[in-house]
Amino acid sequence: MKSVKVGLLGLGTVGTGVVRIVEGHQEDLSSQVGSPIVIEKVAVKNIDKHRSIDIERNKLTEDPWEVIHDPEIDVIIEVMGGVEQTKEYILEALNRGKHIVTANKDLMALYGAEILAKAMEQQCDVFYEASVAGGIPIIRTLIEGFSSDRILKIMGIVNGTTNYILTKMSQEGASYDDVLAEAQQLGYAEADPTSDVEGLDAARKMAILGSLGFRTNVDLRDVAVRGITAVSKEDILYAKRMGYEIKLLGIAERQDDEYSISVQPTMVKHSHPIAAVNGVFNAVYVYGEAVGETMFYGPGAGEMPTATSIVADLVAVIKNKKLGVNGLRAIGPYKPKKLRTDEQ
Ligand code: NDP
Ligand code: HSE
Repeated sequence: MKSVKVGLLGLGTVGTGVVRIVEGHQEDLSSQVGSPIVIEKVAVKNIDKHRSIDIERNKLTEDPWEVIHDPEIDVIIEVMGGVEQTKEYILEALNRGKHIVTANKDLMALYGAEILAKAMEQQCDVFYEASVAGGIPIIRTLIEGFSSDRILKIMGIVNGTTNYILTKMSQEGASYDDVLAEAQQLGYAEADPTSDVEGLDAARKMAILGSLGFRTNVDLRDVAVRGITAVSKEDILYAKRMGYEIKLLGIAERQDDEYSISVQPTMVKHSHPIAAVNGVFNAVYVYGEAVGETMFYGPGAGEMPTATSIVADLVAVIKNKKLGVNGLRAIGPYKPKKLRTDEQ
């Protein structure tokens, strides 16, 4: 039976989880797709770095182009991060007819429309479930589960690092710096955690969710952002006494053909289910005109939850390949929507 060959860009927190799942669940995965799945080549920054998993040295390269140019590779999993150079890798991989699975919200929030257009042109899949809310399948839910509805509001906690920090500050009185260091140690934070704590990571995720939910291309610059760096232990304590938790909330709302999106620390009443979302967990509340209120909950970051979403995308790509339907997931063009401004 011909195997499906996968190229991995990155073998850090998430990439390691991907290898663990592909190897550990191989029998079940191959029974779902009808072929063995082989990690053929892996690009890393430092080939000599100690790894927590066994990987044949001859599979490793420090040159991502070697992975992109390998004619044997069918699917590229991008878990190295970065934007401009990474976009070049992905566009070239698509030009070569390779399918993409990525966890890269920075890239998809900025260049998603361009990359998805290229994917459609090349009849390739670009799946990015892991880019928002780690282990929660919210992207496929918005694209497929709610294709019949008009989504009017998406609200939630979409950054695990900041929720971990706020939770530990609230429940244990821990210091901001100590908990941030812990979140980095646990592999939750971005390479540069500024994007977590300043709300930029959440803003990128909300732009992706808004684009999918409202069927438009949200411009990242339209997302109003405030992070948690100015939230003190005292703020958290006072809020608690008044019956609230402070959460970094993303809120995207739509009215007719206009939308607004923001990310900011918000007082959430203890009685609201979002107040009980703690630690690295995320929750996304989706309000649809027809369905009403729904809420999705699960781990928002970390090695195995994120890798679960990536490998699920890989399975979907391979199934599509067998059916000959790659590149058909996002079919636009959608009616453009514009930013709602305060003057109205
Ligand atoms: P890490 O920093 O742990 O891993 C990055 C990997 O990419 C490392 O293996 C590194 O090599 C490799 N790498 C970096 N630059 C290059 C380069 N120029 N050429 C070759 N290899 C390179 O990151 P994460 O695994 O945490 O995150 C990866 C991606 O997934 C990011 O886009 C992140 O935003 C996203 N993500 C992360 C989540 C998480 O919980 N961590 C959750 C959801 C998404 P080396 O090992 O040699 O240093
Ligand atoms: N740094 C991100 C977070 C990783 O903490 O949510 C998951 O996207």
